[in-house]
This record gives sequence, C-alpha cells and structure tokens, in this order.
Amino acid sequence: MKFDPSQQPELQYMRLLGPCADVRPIVPADAAALFPLVHRQTAVTDMLVWNGPKDLAELEAGYANWRRGERETGRDYMFVIRPAAGGDPVGGCGIRFSRTPGVGNIGYWLGEAHWGKGYMSDAVALLCWLGFERLGAQRMEALCLGHNVGSQRVLEKNGFVRDAGWQPDAELHDRHAAPEGVELCELRFVLERTDWSPRPGFPVVAEVLLTEDEA
Ligand SMILES: CC(C)(COP(=O)(O)OP(=O)(O)OC[C@H]1O[C@@H](n2cnc3c(N)ncnc32)[C@H](O)[C@@H]1OP(=O)(O)O)[C@@H](O)C(=O)NCCC(=O)NCCS
Repeated sequence: MKFDPSQQPELQYMRLLGPCADVRPIVPADAAALFPLVHRQTAVTDMLVWNGPKDLAELEAGYANWRRGERETGRDYMFVIRPAAGGDPVGGCGIRFSRTPGVGNIGYWLGEAHWGKGYMSDAVALLCWLGFERLGAQRMEALCLGHNVGSQRVLEKNGFVRDAGWQPDAELHDRHAAPEGVELCELRFVLERTDWSPRPGFPVVAEVLLTEDEA
C-alpha cells in the first residue's frame, strides 16, 4: 500500500519513559542545560551534521518549534532526553518523516559526561516504538559515521541492521571530517517494521496525543 504522509497520525504531545531515559518535546527552556553540552564540544558535534549553536539565543530559537514541517510533506519532531530518575536534560533526539514517505529518520546526541549510561539505547528504543506503534512508520533509518562505534552499537542493540547497498553522497566530506588516520565513511542502518517488536515492558510510561486524519 502506498504511504500518504497526509494520512499519517500527527503528534500533538508525547512523553515516553524507559528504564533510563525520559523523552519529551523539546522547549526553549531546555536550551540553558543543553547549551554547555554541545557548544564547542567537538567530541559531540564531530559526529553530527551540526556544528552546535553559536550562542544560547540561537539554541533557544531552534527549540521554539519541536514540530516542524507540514503534514502534507512530513513532520520533523525534536525531543529532549532526561534521566528517567529526574534531573537536567542530557541530550536531544528526533525523528524526521520529511524525506521518504513512511520512513522515519532518527538522529540523536548526548553531552559527553552522559555517555555510556544507557540513555541512548533507551531513547532509540522509545523513538522506534513511537514511529512504529503510533506514527505509522514502515521503516526507521539512521545515518552514522563508520568510526562512530558507540552509535552503531546503540542501533544494533535496537535491531537495526546495516544497509550494505547504501552509498553516501558526494558531499560527505563537506559535512564531516574524520580523525587523523581514519578513513571517512558514512553508514546507513535500517529497521523494517516487519522486523521490529517492542522491548518487553517497554515503554514504562507512554503518553501520546495524536491528531488522526479525519478524511
Ligand atoms: C553515540 C552515543 C549516542 C551513544 O549513546 P550512549 O547513551 O552513550 O550509549 P549507551 O550507554 O546506550 O550504550 C550502548 C552500547 O554502546 C556501547 N558504546 C557506547 N559508546 C561506545 C563507544 N564510544 N565505543 C564502544 N562502545 C560504545 C556501550 O558499551 C553499550 O553496549 P553494551 O550495552 O553492549 O554494553 C553518544 O556517545 C553520543 O551522543 N555521542 C556523540 C553524538 C553522536 O555520536 N550522535 C550520533 C550520531 S549518528
């Protein structure tokens, strides 16, 4: 069946909680805690297609609309990640539905002090649950650099597999640089709806408010 983005349920609000991560729409007030985690933090931004914000105001402005794009062409949703146990934001993540209909592209980052604590394994599981169970995704995808071992592990733990046939475009070297001695390459990971099943007992809490298509 052909996927029509205008038929896709639209997210009005959500809060998803896993054992480690609490994921909800990002708002300008989150910028104060997130700014020091990403401003001039090359360990983080070298892995992203984003150099980080130039100042706090730019980050606040960027978080003014957690839901971008048009329903007809596909939405781009941005979320903040907090520890499930409570506390300040530790990073951000999102799903973009605006490129190929029915395909959710995910992106994510954490401040370096928060790496290795399981936050992103949880957050990606929650994004997949949201995409497949609530937003009608047929496939979830993620791009990551070949030397980003942590990101690949997060994806593999969540059932993503490497798309061996995929080739990055010619602008890869404009978008990214690799550490000295490392050959730059970009990988695409995919998870088909038919290969996905929710992790048992997951999410711990799911509050999802949708606008269903009336047509
Ligand atoms: C990559 C990143 C998202 C990983 O998130 P995280 O919360 O630290 O990952 P988790 O704690 O959930 O770990 C998941 C698994 O990956 C492993 N892992 C995490 N970072 C790793 C690293 N740098 N090298 C090797 N393994 C790593 C963990 O050991 C764990 O494996 P296990 O469960 O088998 O023990 C985080 O390091 C980050 O934000 N990096 C900078 C931005 C970035 O790379 N974004 C993604 C762009 S594609």
